[in-house]
Amino acid sequence: MEKFKLKEAIMAERLILLKRCHEHDRDVCQAIEESRSFLREYLFWVDKTKTLADVEKATEKFAKKWDDDDEWCYNLYSIPDNRFLGCIGVHNISFMNQSAELGYWLRLSETGKGYMAEAVKALETELFAAGIHRIVICCDVHNYNSENVARRAGYQLESTQKEALYHHTGLHDMDLFVKFSPYPVRGFELKA
Ligand SMILES: CC(C)(COP(=O)(O)OP(=O)(O)OC[C@H]1O[C@@H](n2cnc3c(N)ncnc32)[C@H](O)[C@@H]1OP(=O)(O)O)[C@@H](O)C(=O)NCCC(=O)NCCS
Repeated sequence: MEKFKLKEAIMAERLILLKRCHEHDRDVCQAIEESRSFLREYLFWVDKTKTLADVEKATEKFAKKWDDDDEWCYNLYSIPDNRFLGCIGVHNISFMNQSAELGYWLRLSETGKGYMAEAVKALETELFAAGIHRIVICCDVHNYNSENVARRAGYQLESTQKEALYHHTGLHDMDLFVKFSPYPVRGFELKA
């Protein structure tokens, strides 16, 4: 398929997805700090992210990844009161295979409100409309909160991969959830 870029701002009902940038760095840093013990359980990078400088460095990396179509990282803000909620990213983008993977986190104080369900829906709508055929969500088999986001959004468990995911206690089994585009596959010639 043709390469494409997603919009830098995507509106949902109660929140907006904004391309990660330095203006958000203080909010991201504060959210990580106040949710550290919650987030570190399933996100390997939390222990390595200690200061505002670490967040700024990560934002630089994400800006390059955005430009290279390697990963599209969005920060989530509530509408209309502009509270920083968390983050959702598209990674493992393959234009050839028409596939991509979603990853996400919320600050602890904004969980249990359905914000991530809304962000996933908004982002997958854009990805399917642009021609992505297969979206994957990968979760540690013990990460029930993340699995519930995937299941509630209509993703199906495709496989469980053994000792496939880093966890600070060792390698954990990983559940792979998948959802397919409602549109026909694009870009293939029909054989006679
Ligand atoms: C994974 C994570 C983002 C899920 O957060 P979450 O708040 O459970 O997910 P949602 O924002 O979709 O909210 C769903 C919850 O809000 C409730 N809810 C309240 N109002 C709602 C609404 N208007 N619409 C939908 N759900 C609503 C749902 O019932 C559900 O609660 P329940 O799980 O107790 O049944 C969060 O737990 C997290 O950041 N974990 C740490 C990082 C992590 O593990 N990331 C994933 C790595 S694979």
